[in-house]
Amino acid sequence: MHVFVTGGTGHSGSYIIPELIDAGHEVTGLARSDTAAAALSALGAKVRRGDLQDLDGLKEAAADSDGVIHVAHRRDLLPSGGIDAVAAAELPIMRAYGEALAGTGKPLVAAGSIGSPGNLGRPATEEDPALPVGDEHKGTLRARNAVETAVVGLAERGVRSSVVRIANIAHSTTDRAGFLPMLIALAKEKGFAGYPGYGKNVWNAVHIRDAASLFRLALEKGPAGKYWHAVGDGAIPLREIAEAIGSRLGLPAVSIPADELMVPGYFGFLANIVTQSFPVSNLVTRRTLGWEPAQPGLLFDLDNDQYFSAS
Ligand SMILES: NC(=O)c1ccc[n+]([C@@H]2O[C@H](COP(=O)([O-])OP(=O)(O)OC[C@H]3O[C@@H](n4cnc5c(N)ncnc54)[C@H](OP(=O)(O)O)[C@@H]3O)[C@@H](O)[C@H]2O)c1
Repeated sequence: MHVFVTGGTGHSGSYIIPELIDAGHEVTGLARSDTAAAALSALGAKVRRGDLQDLDGLKEAAADSDGVIHVAHRRDLLPSGGIDAVAAAELPIMRAYGEALAGTGKPLVAAGSIGSPGNLGRPATEEDPALPVGDEHKGTLRARNAVETAVVGLAERGVRSSVVRIANIAHSTTDRAGFLPMLIALAKEKGFAGYPGYGKNVWNAVHIRDAASLFRLALEKGPAGKYWHAVGDGAIPLREIAEAIGSRLGLPAVSIPADELMVPGYFGFLANIVTQSFPVSNLVTRRTLGWEPAQPGLLFDLDNDQYFSAS
């Protein structure tokens, strides 16, 4: 297939492009700068110059392709407008893809978040839809659920659309801006690796190379209107993550009393995420697409050169 990929210079995109090319696909990547264009060429992709703000350009690129993988996002909007602005910028992009691909049956695979089905008191499955978004969810991760719902909804318009929900922690030797480097930086700054309360609440993780193979499988054979779970480790207690970080830094793992003052005092804007539990299943993804995570799990991959070599 000839695949149009956005975000090809980012953490996930830079693994997705080689994954597609190795499988025999031809890739055109979106580049908004000379640096990005050079990086995409080095990965073996053709380059289409453009920006996420140019909706006509995205429509044209999608129409020229056999399928789209969209993992770019307007990270630059975070400081001024937060997650709401990032999500708001994403919706017209999905509508543009919808216009370009409606009635074609071509695939559109976009990134989503493993937290979108909410805390169900049981492992979330691929059958659990993204929770609806209201005004009261402004400023929370849930604001982005509207994007997932829009992508999955394009199935009704004849697009083979699906959402790959990426785990809380996407790790690799090139993970520079994910939650794991943030937790490591906090531990260094504070002198101990904190976890909220008893640290029994769980997060999940995926090696980004495994996530990349899931994007490819969803593109190649995923049915329309589905969610897929890019999760290798389904439930790791926050305390274990803190202990693993602390042991590598020679720092103690310490419980932060789970009240409103103490938790934000340590975790800052991460406070409302580190206190939540995200147990999740990947059974439907594995059975339907034949996906099997094959890369190192989180606690093993912590020892790759990326996370602690400079400490
Ligand atoms: N644990 C996780 O990491 C996680 C969990 C859930 C969901 N996600 C989602 O997964 C997606 C991919 O995340 P990631 O970590 O791979 O992203 P990333 O490393 O932050 O990369 C962002 C990409 O978007 C591109 N981009 C930004 N603004 C652009 C613009 N105006 N025009 C064109 N391209 C633009 C960047 O290109 P430049 O090189 O030009 O900057 C870069 O390639 C995101 O939607 C993210 O929210 C991630």
